[in-house]
Amino acid sequence: MYVCSCFGITEQQVKQHAEDGRCTPRQIASACKAGTDCGSCVKRIQALLGRTDGCATRTRLEPAGLAAQPPRTAPRQDRPLPLRAA
Ligand code: FES
Repeated sequence: MYVCSCFGITEQQVKQHAEDGRCTPRQIASACKAGTDCGSCVKRIQALLGRTDGCATRTRLEPAGLAAQPPRTAPRQDRPLPLRAA
């Protein structure tokens, strides 16, 4: 079934791009142009990405990668601040 009729992109193609690591509508658009003409398919693409567990990047990074890092709320203290001339 077509998701993007402007470019003839099917649901299966979107799922395949998601499995290849494209996890956002913008990344899908970069891969196949879906959503870049009239834009009426973007919500459908978002829904497909939300339902697809095939986003390889997201599933690889979230459990032990990015999600495990503490949020950066304070400036880094490991580098001295640049000095200003008076
Ligand atoms: S239907 Fe996808 S851009 Fe128009």
